[in-house]
Amino acid sequence: MKIELVVGDILRHRADLAVVNLFEGVKRPGGATGAVDAAIGGAIAAAIRDGDFDGKWGETLLLRPGRGIASPRVLVVGLGKKEEFTPDRVRQTALPVLRLAKKLKLKTVASVLHGAGIGGLDPREAAQFAALGAALSSYEYDRYKSEKASRVERFQWIERNRTVAGPVKAGLGEGAKLGEAINWGRDLVASPPADLRPDGLARAAKRLAQGLEPAAKKRIRVRVHGIGEIRAWKMGGILAVGRGSEVSPRLIVAEYRGGRPGGRWTALVGKGVTFDTGGISLKKWEGMEKMKYDMAGGAGMLAAIRAAAALGIRKNVVAVVPAVENMPSGTAFRPGDVIRTMSGKTVEVLSTDAEGRLILADAIAYARKRYRPAAMVDAATLTGACVVALGSVTMGMMGNDETLLLRMKEASAASGEKAWELPLHEEYLEQIKSDIGDLKNIGGGEAGTITAGYFLKEFAGDTPWVHLDIAGVAWREKERMGYAPGPTGAPVRLLARFLSQEGKA
Ligand code: BES
Ligand code: ZN
Ligand code: ZN
Repeated sequence: MKIELVVGDILRHRADLAVVNLFEGVKRPGGATGAVDAAIGGAIAAAIRDGDFDGKWGETLLLRPGRGIASPRVLVVGLGKKEEFTPDRVRQTALPVLRLAKKLKLKTVASVLHGAGIGGLDPREAAQFAALGAALSSYEYDRYKSEKASRVERFQWIERNRTVAGPVKAGLGEGAKLGEAINWGRDLVASPPADLRPDGLARAAKRLAQGLEPAAKKRIRVRVHGIGEIRAWKMGGILAVGRGSEVSPRLIVAEYRGGRPGGRWTALVGKGVTFDTGGISLKKWEGMEKMKYDMAGGAGMLAAIRAAAALGIRKNVVAVVPAVENMPSGTAFRPGDVIRTMSGKTVEVLSTDAEGRLILADAIAYARKRYRPAAMVDAATLTGACVVALGSVTMGMMGNDETLLLRMKEASAASGEKAWELPLHEEYLEQIKSDIGDLKNIGGGEAGTITAGYFLKEFAGDTPWVHLDIAGVAWREKERMGYAPGPTGAPVRLLARFLSQEGKA
């Protein structure tokens, strides 16, 4: 789908669908909506007066005016209360628009830019979120559908005001690029587990820069390390978890050099369990099919590299993704085994289903040793407990550095991708101390998300580090927060914002 700026008048521009908007409680529409209403004989004002439509958040009104406007259909989207309006709502308005366009098999959509005028948003930012919403809402995984989904070819944003065309165009470009990178990652997460095993995830990572502009491409370098190197580096966690599968583990390392040559690195570590059966501590059958998304953290980190390159972010960023398949078999690791990780710390395995922290322990150690990063962020579908605590609205966040946590909170607020901090008080440590080794890989029934985070903290050492538990938000069962059911691409919106912050590594 092409996302474009058209400087002109929505009344005269012809598309299959024209989109205007209304804040809740407005009785007489103004701006572009008012102009459209006047041209089509007051149908919008009449709908408001008769109570058919009142601009509530998420509400829409479809009209076939027949005259007065070049486009055959007009959709009015409700923006909700003006004081509750945010940039992220601009993104979310795209979903009902594209759902309708797909249903009616429309090819072109023209929309006014929401929120830039009376909404009070900065035009560039409004444009960014608008384009991001259009890109994300057009996403559909239809690889295995005999009948492919209808696709909108052009999404045009109509801006009357020539003076803001520059910033609007820049914002649209940024939003479209970010959305494209996120959708690239969503495809990996949606792939059936047999199609994407550790070797498949590594192959996809190798194609990370495909389709980017040459200038962006040449700043990316992806290396895949196989079992030989993983053994040589004594990555006992990755080796143990990967041992039950026919496909051996890979360590994917994707560098993006957008910053000063020789400048410090930001490391992104992502859980890449391509399928989590639980291993010998086998999960129950119900819902196990969903464990294909246990590599969403890894896909997200790779997508963040793609986004950083596409956006020309001026940072040196490296993504480290341990890719394994957690399977039960005669060669699988067992409860009771004691593992020696790359860092030298030993871990007693109490459940082979708490595998994410074992592979992340090695990936974190590797990132620290090889890159000495100024900051490190990991993302993982790590605990079911996080789904219980925060649901599918908000990701869990933990860390060892107040400044870095504050930056993440800022990035979260600015991007609209919600994250909430949980405490890593030292009293939690006793829950993961082992009698036979240094640590054990589960912390008992209480505070499961925190004890998993605390486990990782033991490997982050003195590197400023933040952990994101995305188990609840990386996949949504129902349409929510402007996403169709399926993979959301979390936490790439948050990370893109974080990496865009000025000055800091
Ligand atoms: N991948 C799961 C966590 C998960 C659960 C992600 C539900 C998404 C939805 C993880 O590897 C796991 O199995 N964790 C266990 C840990 C427990 C054994 C301490 C869990 O959460 O039950
Ligand atoms: Zn597991
Ligand atoms: Zn898992």
